[in-house]
Amino acid sequence: MPAITFIHPDGKSDRVETGDGESAMQAATRHGLDGILAECGGNAMCATCHVYVDDGSLALLPAMADDEDALLDGTASERRPNSRLSCQIKITPALDGLVLRLPERQV
Ligand code: FES
Repeated sequence: MPAITFIHPDGKSDRVETGDGESAMQAATRHGLDGILAECGGNAMCATCHVYVDDGSLALLPAMADDEDALLDGTASERRPNSRLSCQIKITPALDGLVLRLPERQV
Protein backbone atom coordinates (compact mmCIF):
# COMPACT_ATOMS: atom_id res chain seq x y z
CA MET A 1 0.00 0.00 0.00
CA PRO A 2 1.25 3.52 -0.69
CA ALA A 3 2.58 5.46 2.28
CA ILE A 4 2.39 9.21 2.71
CA THR A 5 4.11 11.56 5.12
CA PHE A 6 2.55 14.42 7.05
CA ILE A 7 4.88 17.10 8.38
CA HIS A 8 3.64 19.06 11.38
CA PRO A 9 4.28 22.79 11.80
CA ASP A 10 6.96 21.99 14.42
CA GLY A 11 8.86 19.88 11.88
CA LYS A 12 7.94 16.48 13.28
CA SER A 13 6.64 14.01 10.73
CA ASP A 14 4.33 11.02 10.64
CA ARG A 15 4.47 8.43 7.89
CA VAL A 16 1.19 6.57 7.45
CA GLU A 17 0.24 3.59 5.34
CA THR A 18 -2.86 4.22 3.28
CA GLY A 19 -5.69 1.77 2.76
CA ASP A 20 -7.19 0.73 -0.53
CA GLY A 21 -9.00 3.69 -2.09
CA GLU A 22 -8.48 5.95 0.92
CA SER A 23 -8.08 9.68 0.75
CA ALA A 24 -5.13 11.33 2.47
CA MET A 25 -7.58 12.64 5.09
CA GLN A 26 -8.96 9.16 5.79
CA ALA A 27 -5.46 7.76 6.22
CA ALA A 28 -4.60 10.59 8.62
CA THR A 29 -7.71 10.25 10.77
CA ARG A 30 -7.50 6.45 10.84
CA HIS A 31 -4.05 6.85 12.37
CA GLY A 32 -5.27 9.50 14.86
CA LEU A 33 -3.02 12.15 13.40
CA ASP A 34 -3.19 15.55 15.08
CA GLY A 35 -3.72 18.43 12.70
CA ILE A 36 -6.44 17.02 10.45
CA LEU A 37 -9.90 17.64 11.91
CA ALA A 38 -12.09 16.65 8.96
CA GLU A 39 -15.25 17.93 10.60
CA CYS A 40 -17.46 17.19 7.59
CA GLY A 41 -16.19 13.65 7.18
CA GLY A 42 -14.75 14.21 3.74
CA ASN A 43 -17.70 15.83 2.00
CA ALA A 44 -15.80 18.95 0.91
CA MET A 45 -17.81 21.19 3.22
CA CYS A 46 -15.52 22.23 6.09
CA ALA A 47 -11.91 22.87 4.95
CA THR A 48 -10.56 21.49 8.25
CA CYS A 49 -8.47 18.96 6.34
CA HIS A 50 -6.32 21.65 4.71
CA VAL A 51 -2.77 20.67 3.74
CA TYR A 52 0.13 22.13 1.81
CA VAL A 53 1.35 19.73 -0.85
CA ASP A 54 5.09 19.36 -1.19
CA ASP A 55 6.14 21.14 -4.37
CA GLY A 56 7.60 18.02 -5.93
CA SER A 57 4.28 16.20 -5.64
CA LEU A 58 1.91 18.93 -6.77
CA ALA A 59 1.96 17.93 -10.43
CA LEU A 60 1.00 14.34 -9.54
CA LEU A 61 -2.38 15.40 -8.15
CA PRO A 62 -5.50 15.73 -10.24
CA ALA A 63 -6.82 19.24 -10.79
CA MET A 64 -9.07 20.51 -8.04
CA ALA A 65 -12.81 20.78 -8.47
CA ASP A 66 -14.63 24.09 -8.15
CA ASP A 67 -16.05 23.27 -4.69
CA GLU A 68 -12.58 22.50 -3.33
CA ASP A 69 -11.24 25.70 -4.84
CA ALA A 70 -14.03 27.74 -3.22
CA LEU A 71 -13.57 26.12 0.20
CA LEU A 72 -9.84 26.80 0.19
CA ASP A 73 -10.67 30.51 0.21
CA GLY A 74 -11.99 30.03 3.76
CA THR A 75 -9.22 28.07 5.46
CA ALA A 76 -8.13 29.04 8.98
CA SER A 77 -4.47 29.21 7.96
CA GLU A 78 -3.47 31.14 4.86
CA ARG A 79 -4.19 29.66 1.47
CA ARG A 80 -1.06 29.10 -0.61
CA PRO A 81 -0.59 28.01 -4.23
CA ASN A 82 0.02 24.44 -3.00
CA SER A 83 -3.04 24.30 -0.71
CA ARG A 84 -5.38 21.36 -1.12
CA LEU A 85 -8.08 19.61 0.89
CA SER A 86 -6.71 16.25 1.97
CA CYS A 87 -10.15 14.65 1.73
CA GLN A 88 -10.07 15.28 -1.98
CA ILE A 89 -6.69 13.61 -2.51
CA LYS A 90 -7.37 9.96 -3.28
CA ILE A 91 -4.19 8.01 -2.78
CA THR A 92 -3.09 5.90 -5.72
CA PRO A 93 0.11 3.88 -6.13
CA ALA A 94 1.54 6.82 -8.10
CA LEU A 95 1.29 8.93 -4.94
CA ASP A 96 3.43 6.62 -2.82
CA GLY A 97 5.82 8.87 -0.91
CA LEU A 98 3.57 11.93 -1.09
CA VAL A 99 4.54 14.62 1.43
CA LEU A 100 1.84 16.87 2.91
CA ARG A 101 2.58 19.73 5.29
CA LEU A 102 0.03 20.59 7.95
CA PRO A 103 -1.00 24.21 8.49
CA GLU A 104 -0.66 25.97 11.85
CA ARG A 105 -4.37 25.61 12.52
CA GLN A 106 -7.55 24.22 10.97
CA VAL A 107 -10.13 26.35 12.82
S1 FES B 1 -13.00 16.82 5.58
FE1 FES B 1 -14.29 18.53 5.32
S2 FES B 1 -13.54 19.48 3.56
FE2 FES B 1 -12.21 17.81 3.83
